[in-house]
Amino acid sequence: MNTVTSVKKRFIDTLGQNYSFHELSSMWSQWVVKELLNKSSINYFLEGDFMVSEIDENLIDSLILHLSSYKPIQYFFGYSYFKNLKIQVDASVLIPRPETEQLVDMVIDYVKENKVSTIIDIGTGSGCISIAIGKKIKSNIFAIDVSSQAIAKATSNSKTHQVDIDFKLIDILNVDLYKILPKVDLIVSNPPYVLKREVPEKSVVHSEPKHAIFVPDDDPLIFYKSILNFAKTNLNRGGKIFLEINPLLVSKLIGCMSKYGYSDIQVCTDFYQKKRFIIVS
Ligand SMILES: C[S@@+](CC[C@H](N)C(=O)[O-])C[C@H]1O[C@@H](n2cnc3c(N)ncnc32)[C@H](O)[C@@H]1O
Repeated sequence: MNTVTSVKKRFIDTLGQNYSFHELSSMWSQWVVKELLNKSSINYFLEGDFMVSEIDENLIDSLILHLSSYKPIQYFFGYSYFKNLKIQVDASVLIPRPETEQLVDMVIDYVKENKVSTIIDIGTGSGCISIAIGKKIKSNIFAIDVSSQAIAKATSNSKTHQVDIDFKLIDILNVDLYKILPKVDLIVSNPPYVLKREVPEKSVVHSEPKHAIFVPDDDPLIFYKSILNFAKTNLNRGGKIFLEINPLLVSKLIGCMSKYGYSDIQVCTDFYQKKRFIIVS
């Protein structure tokens, strides 16, 4: 058995070449201390240089191995937190991002003030968006994804959180399938929007499902165009679309939306002041 100071030193020193000190400190306090050692930050400090059990030390060594191959820490634990909800994740789904919590907040604020009977979440992944929305409001929620593993994970997460969502395995790029989806009052989506050149060679992002992240260089707006096509047939008059976007593609996307006849286009920034969301009606 070793003291927590020496185990922490091993964690930081071994992974120092892969991650910044800031990233390692935050993984240590948020995941190792809280989730693996099961201690609140206060207890962690009050207990001083305690001995780490052999079982926990072995787990930390496995975690170091996992992280050294640039796999997301959430895949090691099998869950992530999103709007304070524990969401199960594995390598078949994208890890929910903090920016997306802002998208959910915007939808909830809107729905509280407006009549919204039916919502669809396009590219639901782990189900985080629909589940967090369903926890707060009473609208009917549909959610689609092209991945059957994602639909299975999202369904299981919705059961855990007791939120009723109608999940469907559907490819949004296939226009012929729109007729089996309902007419909706609100569309929310965090579709794939990352360009390959944006992600460094060594990044945890490469361990997440590629189809959930990357878009083709020659058609980076492919998913937004499909969402706008879907809106033509399935969005009720007066309906709204809430989208997470790539800040690099904002002007292209606004141009595309104007071509589709949208003039009420609102761009919103995330907490890093990046243009990260678009609301259209
Ligand atoms: C960026 S992830 C978002 C996941 C989740 N909504 C979130 O915010 O964490 C994009 C999602 O779109 C799904 N997707 C990719 N291509 C799709 C398609 N053609 N039709 C429907 N969903 C698709 C992926 O499987 C993935 O779950």
